[in-house]
Amino acid sequence: MALGPLMVLTILVIAYVIASIFLPLLTGGAGYTPTPRRAVDEALAIADLKKDEVFYDLGCGAGGVLLRALRRCDDVRGIEIEPLRWLVARLRARGARVILGDLFKQDISDADVIFMFQYRGRINDRIARKIRSEVRPGTRVVSYLHAIEGMRLVRKRSDIFVYEA
Ligand SMILES: C[S@@+](CC[C@H](N)C(=O)[O-])C[C@H]1O[C@@H](n2cnc3c(N)ncnc32)[C@H](O)[C@@H]1O
Repeated sequence: MALGPLMVLTILVIAYVIASIFLPLLTGGAGYTPTPRRAVDEALAIADLKKDEVFYDLGCGAGGVLLRALRRCDDVRGIEIEPLRWLVARLRARGARVILGDLFKQDISDADVIFMFQYRGRINDRIARKIRSEVRPGTRVVSYLHAIEGMRLVRKRSDIFVYEA
């Protein structure tokens, strides 16, 4: 029995939605929830992000954090594993470099400020190991909502944790 074009399209859309949910989970990363704009602005202010610094959002979703960071900084980069969110981020955050891929496979050694909203526990532990082995001492790491074990906490305001590598 041949499937009609509408049925094929429906199957493809359902398959894509399922894949987009499970892709980040395969690496242990968070699914998609955007950081509230209030928290992003507060985080960037606490991290004291400057114009000439290099900023990363690890798992940038649809690019909301990148957009806010572009107001303060010229070199803004995001890494996103899920293709549809990556595309939206690329279209929204013009001026940022938005990389499609697994954050664990990207070089972030030139970072001055790193933002992340992932999960407490295994994923944050893994990211912390990557950060410790790659970035320069003094790099600021901002985590929204979840603490990162084993990193030096220098500031904390409600749900924003700021560390120094
Ligand atoms: C909670 S959302 C945060 C989005 C954005 N950073 C924000 O704060 O608004 C986490 C994002 O990380 C992405 N992600 C999860 N694991 C990843 C990985 N290994 N590499 C790149 N992105 C990943 C998810 O697809 C999701 O879009």
